[in-house]
Amino acid sequence: MTLIAPSLLSADFANLAAAVGLVEAGGADWIHLDVMDGHFVPNLTIGPPVITAIKKFSHLPLDTHLMIEDPGRWVEIYRRAGADIITVHAEATRHLHRTLHQIKELGARAGVSLNPATPVSAIEEVLSDVDLVLVMTVNPGFGAQEFIPNTLGKIRAIRDLLHRAKSDALIEVDGGIDDRTSISVVHAGAGVLVAGNYIFSAQSVKDGVQTLRERAAEGERRRKTGDIPRMV
Ligand code: DX5
Ligand code: ZN
Repeated sequence: MTLIAPSLLSADFANLAAAVGLVEAGGADWIHLDVMDGHFVPNLTIGPPVITAIKKFSHLPLDTHLMIEDPGRWVEIYRRAGADIITVHAEATRHLHRTLHQIKELGARAGVSLNPATPVSAIEEVLSDVDLVLVMTVNPGFGAQEFIPNTLGKIRAIRDLLHRAKSDALIEVDGGIDDRTSISVVHAGAGVLVAGNYIFSAQSVKDGVQTLRERAAEGERRRKTGDIPRMV
């Protein structure tokens, strides 16, 4: 079953506890937290103290997406703050293998992320070391951007590599996921859908989560039957 991970980036930052409540009551699987440092990406968001605060209100796994330079220096602090899944960017991590193992030793699940322009080859050597591959389907830094269709081929390529490696790592997609693109990304191999703008501008958070779940089920069905969904 495809997992749904609402991104709090599109929530009201003055009411994060309420947003966490809506996401949980809406039936989401994970809570996606976007950490930006103003260097790796041209935006600044939240850091460890905010994650510590959110943790008190959340029963769901905190899926922490570190869009920061040199994340190896920070993973222990984010783990202590309450991150359950910690994802670092291949482009920002000099010693990627070391950092991924550091995350696992801290007891968290380890993810690696790729920007749209980064080829799959950048992570091929660490595919057996990760629990999650986060494929950016927009350029990281902001919510509510348009999905980049070229990333569908990358999702398929990663799915095939993981399959060949007999890995059960999940493929997560992030950026521009809505009621249309969700079908295509799940058909291509995504197992976790991050969505900020779509879920927080839906009629209700619950409706947004529910619709994405239905679309994901449609993508899974088409994947099994070999139907090709209309390109987004
Ligand atoms: C972008 C973030 C995303 C963002 C997705 O840098 O990594 O998690 O919240 O936003 P939407 O779903 O609004 O495109
Ligand atoms: Zn994200």
